[in-house]
Amino acid sequence: MSLVAIGAYYVDTILSTSHYPGEDEKLRASNIAHRRGGNCANSLEVLQQLTATSRQQLSLNLVAILPAKSSVASQQLIAALEPHVQLRHSIYREQFQEPASCYIIKSQSTGSRTIVNYNELPDMTLEEFIRITDELGPRATWFHFEGRIPAVTFGCIQYLRKQYPSARISVELEKPGREGLQELAGLADVVFYSKTWAQGLGYVSAEECLRDQSTKAQNAILLCCTWGQDGADAFEPGTGEFVHVDAYTSAGFQVVDPIGAGDTFNAGMLYALNCKDKEWDLCTKVKFANRIAGMKVAQEGFPGLS
Ligand code: FRU
Repeated sequence: MSLVAIGAYYVDTILSTSHYPGEDEKLRASNIAHRRGGNCANSLEVLQQLTATSRQQLSLNLVAILPAKSSVASQQLIAALEPHVQLRHSIYREQFQEPASCYIIKSQSTGSRTIVNYNELPDMTLEEFIRITDELGPRATWFHFEGRIPAVTFGCIQYLRKQYPSARISVELEKPGREGLQELAGLADVVFYSKTWAQGLGYVSAEECLRDQSTKAQNAILLCCTWGQDGADAFEPGTGEFVHVDAYTSAGFQVVDPIGAGDTFNAGMLYALNCKDKEWDLCTKVKFANRIAGMKVAQEGFPGLS
């Protein structure tokens, strides 16, 4: 079994501040950290830990657009993820040296993280995806898409449905305002909705989002939505089973680093669906994903989450 995650790779620069600065304010950060980021890369870093001890083998692949292979950023990513996560099918834009970058302000007073990104790397094309998929062949059993460039992603999923009908497909809808994301949900088997995306559509709770979305995501067997401090919900349209779990906290819990909490939840669900599908019921799967997402929020970065 092999999982392929398709999404952007970022280099994150994270500034910790006491509060979120007002416009035109000068503010001194208490810490600066540079970290490998991007939703799929974050999820794969977690998945790699979870699958390391699993009896069910799952090989992991990242398809991302990277700057020149010799660039510092690409070399750092390769060193960080390989050999457990394969980058063989990532696409190197040899004319570019700069990676896509995110500048993140992490405010201690509210626990929020505000993200500004910069990316000059040309996005993946459908032709590139088809070439990669044909190299992977039927070995790839699960494709997870970060819903970024909806028109291309739509073509990618249609291609998979036609050429590799047994492959399972999940899509993450995270950023509101991107035309065409809703249509992606209509093609996927599993959809991960973020709170930001749901609120952007006017939903006031994860449950409202999932119940309404189940009428739009016609092929989906499972819909999940995380809602920050209110935990996470999941809904199986086919069986009507609905699960809610409160946000996971342990004794003395404090928000340390919320960056990538949703990516960690997605990793937990992808692990459960690929490696524990027969052993765990829906509630156990969601509780597991929610727990590792909560553990992640209480610590810096992604190590030690298995
Ligand atoms: C967290 C994250 C960061 C990255 C940004 C990209 O979910 O993936 O690592 O900088 O979001 O949107």
